[in-house]
Amino acid sequence: MIRNNEGKISMTIDEMRRELQRRLNKKRFAHSIGVANTAVKLAKRFSVDETKAYIAGILHDCAREFEDDDLPTQAKLRGIKIGEVEQVMPLLLHPYIGAKMIKEIYGVDDEEISQAIYRHTVGARNMTKLDKIIYFADMIEPNRNYPGVEKLRALAETAELDEILLTAFNETIIFVIKKNSLVHPDTIAARNFLLLNK
Ligand SMILES: [Fe+2]
Ligand SMILES: [Fe+2]
Repeated sequence: MIRNNEGKISMTIDEMRRELQRRLNKKRFAHSIGVANTAVKLAKRFSVDETKAYIAGILHDCAREFEDDDLPTQAKLRGIKIGEVEQVMPLLLHPYIGAKMIKEIYGVDDEEISQAIYRHTVGARNMTKLDKIIYFADMIEPNRNYPGVEKLRALAETAELDEILLTAFNETIIFVIKKNSLVHPDTIAARNFLLLNK
């Protein structure tokens, strides 16, 4: 049984993995394992708690067990406020729902893990090292395949964490703008925060 110092993690990692595998489709489960393993590598490099990185990594997409059009209902059930961007892009609700589900389903009552899951999709100002690692691991885990992913993977080996994140936000914002999509205000805030605190 692996527990954190406060004893607030009541399932073994094996049990969490089994429960997640039951709830997610094959592709999402494989992605989750990829994020967990990538997060542990980054945690080693940047001196972050590896157990927390693994747990946040495997569970970051746990709310993807719901269909996209069920996400607003699931958010409301949990008292999550739906912003104007989330209203038209309900998929953006899965990190907020997931941040609560880890306690409901997986026995993880840990604020740092919950926050990293909450922030994994659009980021936030003043992110912790764990938040940053989960955000980035989600972009570069081995199952990801898009133009530019190799450049980001290479960065993970050499660059400092804030430089990695700044590049990740830049790439994300450019990608979203090229698609003519909405840019989430938290992503702008996250990027500005990094630049202002350089
Ligand atoms: Fe996600
Ligand atoms: Fe993900």
